[in-house]
Amino acid sequence: MTTHTSRVFSGIQPTGNLHLGNYLGAITKWVALQESHECLFCVVDLHAITVWQDPAELVRNTREVTAAVIAAGIDPKKHIVFNQSQVSGHAELAWIFNCVARMGWLSRMTQFKEKAGKHRENASVGLFAYPNLMAADILLYKATHVPVGDDQKQHLELSRDIAQKFNSDFAASVAALDLAADFFPLPEPLIAGPATRIMSLRDGRAKMSKSDPSDMTRINMMDDANTIARKFQKARTDPEPLPSSEAGLEGRPEADNLVGIYAALAGHAKAEVLSEFGGSQFSAFKKALTEIAVERVAPVAAETKRLMDDPGQIDAILVDGAARARAIADPVLRSVKQVVGLIQD
Ligand code: TYM
Repeated sequence: MTTHTSRVFSGIQPTGNLHLGNYLGAITKWVALQESHECLFCVVDLHAITVWQDPAELVRNTREVTAAVIAAGIDPKKHIVFNQSQVSGHAELAWIFNCVARMGWLSRMTQFKEKAGKHRENASVGLFAYPNLMAADILLYKATHVPVGDDQKQHLELSRDIAQKFNSDFAASVAALDLAADFFPLPEPLIAGPATRIMSLRDGRAKMSKSDPSDMTRINMMDDANTIARKFQKARTDPEPLPSSEAGLEGRPEADNLVGIYAALAGHAKAEVLSEFGGSQFSAFKKALTEIAVERVAPVAAETKRLMDDPGQIDAILVDGAARARAIADPVLRSVKQVVGLIQD
């Protein structure tokens, strides 16, 4: 077995406001991992255009998501922050993976089925091939660890399948070129903690999502304190007080979600939160939840706004990040092309 250098890669779409699900499910984990790993964080604009994006909005959203990631604590000097379309290797490797992945694998992707809905014939080809581009994002850097929310698990399994099939299809070529066996690492998903799947505030069985038509279903990272308070106040709950143990959350998805959000914000386990709030009414718990959410969200929103006042500075960060990303990607792509037989030497 080849040992691959440990490297973190993760991505986020510039498709509008970041919400608490993105923040707790992914970005806070990125912030923690940057202490111990070499990391690349990518604003995936090529993924965004798999569904219609207004061009001017896309430019703005790319900058705003970049600003938010930095405002949340990512250091773009120590780590690489860039947008996907600036590094053409993502699209090139994705094409090669389009020829490795099988139609059947992609047809099983639940996110495609959800996003395409009933009008599958009208979905873009890009939306169908989306997971291949995601595999390319990760494997272009031979990344070994990928921190994501639970909704990306199936896509990561597909990335592993693609890596494995590539390694085995081209094993002879890899050996003939005297390259290390196991050409691509099998990237490991990092999905852990109380916030891997933050749910809608209006329906404990639906994921908190940017694409939900109702803004009341999510806490956006740019929401002000009053809006956060109103959204939690109106969040759906059930008539019972909070239970004292996790077992009592079973069959109570809305309660479970709010407790999970509190736990993630406080950096505690759900059990600890319940030992403090067990027996409380939701009205009291929602006040405490609002307080802790505002405490965490307000500084990120303020810093994002401050950074957005200087778009040139954000663009400079992305240009610098892309150059550093290319320096890692170029030799990998070159050897992929040799392995596949697209270039001779
Ligand atoms: P995206 O932009 O939908 O979401 C960014 C990150 O936020 C997580 N997330 C959530 N976590 C918990 N609860 C939620 N309700 C919630 N909603 C979103 C997502 O799991 C994700 O980690 N395909 C990816 C972007 C991507 C990528 C990659 C990720 C492209 N290439 C390579 C990792 C590696 C996406 O659409 O994320």
